[in-house]
Amino acid sequence: MAEVYKRLFSPYTLAGQTIRNRIAMAPLTRQMAEADGTPTGEMVAYYARRARGGAGLIITEGTYEENKLGCRAYLSQPGIVTAKHVKAWRKVTDAVHAHDCRIILQLMHGGRVSDPRVLGGKAPVSASATQSPGWTLYTDNDYEKKIRNIEGAWPKVTFGPARALTVKEIHAVADGFADGAKRAVEAGFDGVEIHGANGYLLWQFINPKTNQRTDEFGGSPENNVRFAKLVAEKVRRAIGKKKIITLRISQDGVDDFVGAWPGGVKYAAAIGKALKDSGYDALHWSSFNYLDNRDASSPVPMPTVIRKASGLPIITNGGIAEGAQAEAALKSGAADMVAIGRPIFAHPDWPYIVRSGQPYPWCDFDRKYVIRPPLDYAHAYPLGLTDPKWPTDR
Ligand SMILES: Cc1cc2nc3c(=O)[nH]c(=O)nc-3n(C[C@H](O)[C@H](O)[C@H](O)COP(=O)(O)O)c2cc1C
Repeated sequence: MAEVYKRLFSPYTLAGQTIRNRIAMAPLTRQMAEADGTPTGEMVAYYARRARGGAGLIITEGTYEENKLGCRAYLSQPGIVTAKHVKAWRKVTDAVHAHDCRIILQLMHGGRVSDPRVLGGKAPVSASATQSPGWTLYTDNDYEKKIRNIEGAWPKVTFGPARALTVKEIHAVADGFADGAKRAVEAGFDGVEIHGANGYLLWQFINPKTNQRTDEFGGSPENNVRFAKLVAEKVRRAIGKKKIITLRISQDGVDDFVGAWPGGVKYAAAIGKALKDSGYDALHWSSFNYLDNRDASSPVPMPTVIRKASGLPIITNGGIAEGAQAEAALKSGAADMVAIGRPIFAHPDWPYIVRSGQPYPWCDFDRKYVIRPPLDYAHAYPLGLTDPKWPTDR
């Protein structure tokens, strides 16, 4: 096999765990769990297939950790709440580990954008009493439109007004993350990712646009990340030092697609500094193009700024579709690992193909792939290499 992209295919260590290369599969909500949140056989096959394709680390889709305070964000979203959930996730982790790939569970709280149908008539919760402007349904699934009773090519999903969490509730939600993390370890996960990105509850605290609090949980970059730090503290206490804990952060959210932090890179630097002593093993930058920092005053990519200010390793995501782009991100100081979303979704063998150095006609991501990948990927690529044996690099 040609030795291409040396950095990308060099091992990396987080929380004392060796990851075979610098490629993480980004978290992708699939909504294919059972109605009660139990992971399905389809999910076992889906994750195992991508582990076999060569990723070093899989970060699962956002998963709810408790059935309280509107934590659950989606119908058919997987949970890590019950013994039944734990048992079913165990099948996923075993299948992924069989391919020498590590896997962490993304834990999330939906906050003000939790699906109203899971709230049982209650108001969603957030940092402050705000209302989401809603978001565009990222699917062409007619069934999804029908059950939501919405129409059109890009239908909009709306949410009711949110109420602000009390300080006591903030602590309770952080405890919920810690309990979920404990169950994740029981299910065989190598750690957890705390979802602080993309418009959900912790993002609503980190983002000055949605956090209007005047107590210790709002009003400054340090206060805005206090909740995320509290979660790290409790989760670490629950699962110990040998498990990976990452925090995903972003400017944009599902209801603020081209969002920018007021203050741009200066705000990013302040957040990075505040997270320095947070106890996270790594931060994870989420975007659709990591090179676009949406700040006209500086060309420096946000993950570069945050990595430098925090001194923490960073997993960088957003618009990386080719091996050369991934290698460049690592080389430039913008990333310690890269997270690949849509390309690995559409092409489970993305790492393998990239490493082979063989040209490959990548297909553009189309939103219909949210429902189903474009081809039958029962076989590894190139055909004939049904089970690529990865060199163990260790
Ligand atoms: C269908 C879909 C589902 C997603 N679900 C999640 C999720 O559960 N958690 C999360 O943090 N990000 C989620 N994202 C964002 C992706 O992780 C990633 O940031 C985005 O696809 C951009 O990366 P890419 O250019 O490598 O695809 C989702 C994106 C898509 C397209």
